[in-house]
Amino acid sequence: MPKLGVNIDHVATLRQARREGFPDIVEAAIACELAGAEGITCHLREDRRHIQDADVYALKRSIKTKLNLEMAASEDIVRIALDVKPRDVCLVPEKRHELTTEGGLDVAGNIKSLGDVVSRLRSSGIKVSMFINPDKNQIVASKEIGADCVELHTGHYANSRSAQERAKHLAVIKEASVRVLESGLILNCGHGLDYSNARDVAVIPGMRELNIGFSIIARALFVGLENAVREMKKLCAE
Ligand code: PXP
Repeated sequence: MPKLGVNIDHVATLRQARREGFPDIVEAAIACELAGAEGITCHLREDRRHIQDADVYALKRSIKTKLNLEMAASEDIVRIALDVKPRDVCLVPEKRHELTTEGGLDVAGNIKSLGDVVSRLRSSGIKVSMFINPDKNQIVASKEIGADCVELHTGHYANSRSAQERAKHLAVIKEASVRVLESGLILNCGHGLDYSNARDVAVIPGMRELNIGFSIIARALFVGLENAVREMKKLCAE
């Protein structure tokens, strides 16, 4: 059964809607951990639309599991990561006007610049993951630049409009998963996973970790955060 990393960005989205001090991000992280989450994920975006710098430091200080910081490979954010030293960093592409991360990182097209960032992060003891589409060239390039892990983008699978389309995307993810493992990289998946589609990804052999945010935080409105996390863990274990 893969480990569950809960992305708590949208707890901060709610807080930032009123610029209040609540809901408290650390309290949310601790609730996720108490319910069995094996990691806490947050994305420090360049526009700081949800998670703020202070949140990343507070999470690093307070959580008992591990912090996975999603971030663009831009210099000011890299400096913060080097200062905070989360256990993991997941490098993602970032566009100012997107609602959420769209598509994977073009590692193959940015070998030099991304390779430099990966090596700076790794030399300070951070494990580095690349958020990529389930594509052979991107897997090869991730290995080439020295990443430890890849997180395969499951957004296209999750947004499929028919069972046929979904099966096609799942087959692509499964094929890419084999390639990831064969190349010696750690296999993670994430984006758009919810209570109806996470299980088929969770059962892919060798899956180390799923990073899930929006669906869990949305479900928490009705059942509470701890129950929402427990339900997701149970579903992935079934
Ligand atoms: N993994 C990555 C790399 C992401 O950028 C995101 C969204 O921040 C997630 C996982 C979580 O996606 P969702 O909120 O759709 O579950």
